[in-house]
Amino acid sequence: MVTMLGAYPSLEIGPLLDSHEHDLRTILQETLATEAQALDLYRKLLKCIEGQSVTLEEYARQMIYAEELHASEVDKMLRRPANWRKLP
Ligand SMILES: [Fe+2]
Repeated sequence: MVTMLGAYPSLEIGPLLDSHEHDLRTILQETLATEAQALDLYRKLLKCIEGQSVTLEEYARQMIYAEELHASEVDKMLRRPANWRKLP
């Protein structure tokens, strides 16, 4: 996608975001926060390019779809049994 736009992807490694907390709940909460950040960025991308490139729009939509599923799965893992709603 980056090369399609005439650029070259960076090979730099970003800052490590690990808090070094190793209990499962903390790891899942950090994961959920990361999924939310990714979702926000892909939604911003979609807003920026809407009406300009069908390819980029579809890419952004696919990524939003994937990140929403990821966030949903992590959210389910974080729920305590008492927080599950019963369907009518
Ligand atoms: Fe994800």
